Amino acid sequence: MNHTKGNYFGWLFGGKHYDFFATILGFGNAYYNQVAEILPLENGMSVLDLGCGTESVGIAISRYHRRDVEIHGVDLSGTQLDYAAVKGTRSGIDLNLYRGSMDLLPFNDGSFDLVVTSVAFCETTSEVRKGAIMEASRVLKDKGFFAIVDCAKPILGLDTVMMLPFFMFKETAESWNNHYPEICRENDLILEKEVYIKSYVKCQLFRKAD
Ligand SMILES: C[S@@+](CC[C@H](N)C(=O)[O-])C[C@H]1O[C@@H](n2cnc3c(N)ncnc32)[C@H](O)[C@@H]1O
Repeated sequence: MNHTKGNYFGWLFGGKHYDFFATILGFGNAYYNQVAEILPLENGMSVLDLGCGTESVGIAISRYHRRDVEIHGVDLSGTQLDYAAVKGTRSGIDLNLYRGSMDLLPFNDGSFDLVVTSVAFCETTSEVRKGAIMEASRVLKDKGFFAIVDCAKPILGLDTVMMLPFFMFKETAESWNNHYPEICRENDLILEKEVYIKSYVKCQLFRKAD
């Protein structure tokens, strides 16, 4: 697997260790439920999660929308995906998991109603993010939604002070300088709304033009 495509969450920082550290750092159930609530989901939709990790987003979506949603997740890390599969089985939720990079997706054009990514863009390079946006647009149906949930220029908050050292060293320029709307527009994805979920994490919701 090509680790130059992003930070690789292997055995030490992947799987159940990832969930443990994520919860301590404020990415526990409450955060994933907030993401699920913001997404414009309807029964029967097919959803793709880019950099899905242990697929906490997909599981929260599935629970929030009473399971009538098809969840697909892509991640670089086998450790993350193996644990996602365990969580899916435990919670009785069908997850379709694929190992690969978000900038080269193994899906046909127009396959999904919604593509989401949660704190995974900040773990990749600028080049991969641009490729991922292009791919998201390709695999979305017309009028489908694309949600980028990622670290953003902080607004005042205690959690910013705690988390700043973690994000300072990441490749976050497009997110912090709010360049995604421009890059998305070049790929027919139009910004509909943006909401801060935490003082340093923003959800930007785009819609694909038909
Ligand atoms: C901080 S975790 C976020 C996981 C999950 N989305 C969440 O919200 O808990 C970042 C994830 O992105 C994955 N990742 C990094 N670069 C990637 C790439 N180019 N393609 C797919 N996944 C990638 C990592 O393996 C890791 O699981």
